[in-house]
Amino acid sequence: MEAAELKRIVAEKAVNTFVKDGMNVGLGTGSTAYFAIKRIGQLVAEGYDLTCVATSVQSENLAKECGIKVVDLDQVDSLDVTIDGADEVDPKMQLIKGLGGALLREKIVAAATIREVIIADESKLVEKLGTKAPLPVEVLRFGHEHTRYALKRQGCEPTLRMRDGEPFVTDGGNYIYDCRFPGIDNPFFLESRIDVIPGVVENGLFLNTAYDVLISRQDGTVERMSGQTD
Ligand code: A5P
Repeated sequence: MEAAELKRIVAEKAVNTFVKDGMNVGLGTGSTAYFAIKRIGQLVAEGYDLTCVATSVQSENLAKECGIKVVDLDQVDSLDVTIDGADEVDPKMQLIKGLGGALLREKIVAAATIREVIIADESKLVEKLGTKAPLPVEVLRFGHEHTRYALKRQGCEPTLRMRDGEPFVTDGGNYIYDCRFPGIDNPFFLESRIDVIPGVVENGLFLNTAYDVLISRQDGTVERMSGQTD
């Protein structure tokens, strides 16, 4: 099956399963979350009353095009469900996110969410985090080369993310270093080390964040990974 079709299948399954009329819903970012937002737009067109919060300007614009009501996060007490993608998923449902550049808002929205639902195709499954994708780390622009040295001391090769010959700038106005590790043995320890580096705004490790993970397989079936909190 085509990659886009696998993304659509898992996104629509998640929306059909978890989104109910009247809910506050978080909208993820990326090429898989794209299909979830489109499906949520269909539900709104059918008459669902949903209040949504977007994890990026890109997703907010798409949602508005789809006729979805989008509010600021601070206008809701909490979100019933957020449906978002991931770059890597390990067997314990720990994640790397942020290749789409929205990790900061994604993490804030996830923290305000009762049920974080992750959608991905099977190419995102890994035995150990960091083996396929780099770990994105969002940093302040001020002194970012010094932040880079501190990241490198954690055992990775950090590369400043570029777009059109210029450093990529996030919705929060920051830079991203994509940190290539030879696999991440202890993501909790690594996160604690990264988070105390001055200049680091947020990291792309999403640990104990996913409530459900839905995975689309090459044959078009969708599997639900068993959650640790269900
Ligand atoms: C956005 O910043 C990311 O966290 C995405 O959720 C992640 O990169 C998955 O994106 P795709 O669905 O496009 O692979």
